[in-house]
Amino acid sequence: MSDQGTATPSRSSLSSFLPPPQPHRIAAASSASTSASSSSSRDPGRRLFGYTRKLKRLGKAVDQELEKIIAENEKAGSGAQHASGDHRDFIDILLSLVKQPIDPNDEQSQVMDRTNVKATLLDSIAGSFETSATVVIWVLSELLKHPRVMRKLQDELTNVVGLNKFVQETHLANLTYLDIVIKESLRLHPPGAIVTRASTKDAIVNGYRIKKNTMILINLWAIGRDPKAWSDNAEEYYPERFIANNCDYRGYNFHFIPFGAGSRGCPGIHLGLTMVKLVVAQIVHCFNWELPSNMTPDDLDMNEKFGLTQPKAKNLLAVPTYRLTCEIHKDTP
Ligand code: HEM
Repeated sequence: MSDQGTATPSRSSLSSFLPPPQPHRIAAASSASTSASSSSSRDPGRRLFGYTRKLKRLGKAVDQELEKIIAENEKAGSGAQHASGDHRDFIDILLSLVKQPIDPNDEQSQVMDRTNVKATLLDSIAGSFETSATVVIWVLSELLKHPRVMRKLQDELTNVVGLNKFVQETHLANLTYLDIVIKESLRLHPPGAIVTRASTKDAIVNGYRIKKNTMILINLWAIGRDPKAWSDNAEEYYPERFIANNCDYRGYNFHFIPFGAGSRGCPGIHLGLTMVKLVVAQIVHCFNWELPSNMTPDDLDMNEKFGLTQPKAKNLLAVPTYRLTCEIHKDTP
């Protein structure tokens, strides 16, 4: 989004309806309020958690907030700066598509309406913040649990970035150890632990008869820990396994699909990875981290809390010490 116009009011409006400790409630509400764009096969929240009444209520509240955000944008959009087209943000672009056919190659296809705009906005918000934040926490937890890996990552950052600079997005391509650290964390802690699909025809899998239109739950968490795919040390945090096993994130290797796969795979993969890598790199480069109160890495609780993004059950507490030679507030690209 642009820095202009709506970004700040949108964020403040959002915080009033996003309940941080229970991300699954939002996802469930998303399913309800965006039913125009979701098929029932992609609506596991309602069936799995039995939240129908609550999510109807929450869906209504979410709808009102989205209306407020769009109205703020429409108001700002009538200003002279917006009219020039220089400061259009994501919401402006979505609004400009209203009444256009969803498939530009097919004039007969359904046209984009306000509900589609709200559904797209909510998908983007709910799908992006919680997933990326959860990944960052898990990566830092694994690094604190494995000081060897933390040291190696800090060495790489010292060599590639230098102790007199902050990390920039341009450094990321050269941070190869960071890449496998993130991969290993996503293998063990995929925030979208279960993805859903509907079978398009009758099939037999491992002797089980699966009827057409059955909802299939694909458990990425279990696949990431399957010794048949990852050898006997599947439970161990060992980023180096990705040096030999060079699979990427894009969904071509079915034993490693933290962003899903196929046409419904995560559209935010590039943004998500960039955010996660940049935040982790910056935090690890700028600070040395220690566990508080004489805790040892073995004491660190790595249990998950049940929810759509599988966050850590207990908050991560760690003590930072600044390690760079440049001033923290000085902009030194
Ligand atoms: C590290 C961060 C992220 C992870 C691990 C992640 C993971 C996932 C997964 C597993 C899915 C389901 C894919 C499937 O069913 O095959 C998904 C869907 C989705 N993600 Fe992400 N995601 C991340 C970041 C983002 C960001 C930053 C955005 C938006 C900017 C985003 C937007 C979406 C949307 C809109 C969908 C639904 C796609 C559809 O149903 O067609 N995600 N994501």
